[in-house]
Amino acid sequence: MSDNATEEYDGRMLTLLQMVWGEGFLSPGGPQAVREIMSGVALEGKRVLDIGCGLGGLDQVLLTLGAAHVTGLDVAGLIVEMGQERIRRAGLANRIEIKLVEPGPLPFADNSFDIVFGKDAWLHIPDKAAHFAEIHRVLKPGGRIAAGDWMKSPGPYSRDMEYFFEMEGLTYHLVTLAEYGTLLHAAGFVDVKLEDITEIYRREAQDELARMKGELAPVMLAELGEAGNAHFLEDWRSLTVVLDKGELRPARIWATKPA
Ligand SMILES: C[S@@+](CC[C@H](N)C(=O)[O-])C[C@H]1O[C@@H](n2cnc3c(N)ncnc32)[C@H](O)[C@@H]1O
Repeated sequence: MSDNATEEYDGRMLTLLQMVWGEGFLSPGGPQAVREIMSGVALEGKRVLDIGCGLGGLDQVLLTLGAAHVTGLDVAGLIVEMGQERIRRAGLANRIEIKLVEPGPLPFADNSFDIVFGKDAWLHIPDKAAHFAEIHRVLKPGGRIAAGDWMKSPGPYSRDMEYFFEMEGLTYHLVTLAEYGTLLHAAGFVDVKLEDITEIYRREAQDELARMKGELAPVMLAELGEAGNAHFLEDWRSLTVVLDKGELRPARIWATKPA
């Protein structure tokens, strides 16, 4: 694993993730996952920032839910190029802007956005206190975070978790849900609501593994070859292990910058 998380998702990984999670999606749950994060969040006419936007599939869902404009940021050049191309082809370049950024401070003025969204991307960010401080800065007063992210159980990573990270070839920086809440409060957020959805994704990941061994097997073999197919089956098996143990804990997060 590299310390530089910017270009860790290679073409093979991007192909596999979209086979399992859908075209334009690099995280689980598809459009329904975005709807669930946004239920109770007024999006009509709002300007949204999506940090770690990936290929922009979720940004298209945000538009269908009423957002006026989405700015998507990502640190991976390949992903940003592919995402920009998808959005151009969909004829949405005037409403979704995908930008390549360096990790670190956000390139926006204070009070620029109504909503900051992120889905299963902030798990790659080591300094969450600085990240939440930046989100607080660029949100308008009264603006909201609505996001999904992956957490961990308390204590050091187990060997199973380290093995899962090795299989992924990605750098994860996970904290517990309680630590996440503490960090959000420390950054100045109020109305912090955290929902652990481990049980939901635990079952979905088992279904995903079954699909990979079943209906997706021919296309996985064709696209990834024998070795790639075997690698990703083992990667997903290791994912189900850490979900079953309750050590990897997906969650939904909401928080508000005081008006
Ligand atoms: C699991 S993917 C999720 C992408 C997208 N949110 C989705 O659900 O399809 C994680 C994304 O976070 C991006 N990423 C990693 N570190 C980042 C950072 N510091 N700032 C912004 N994006 C980052 C990766 O390049 C990748 O596109």
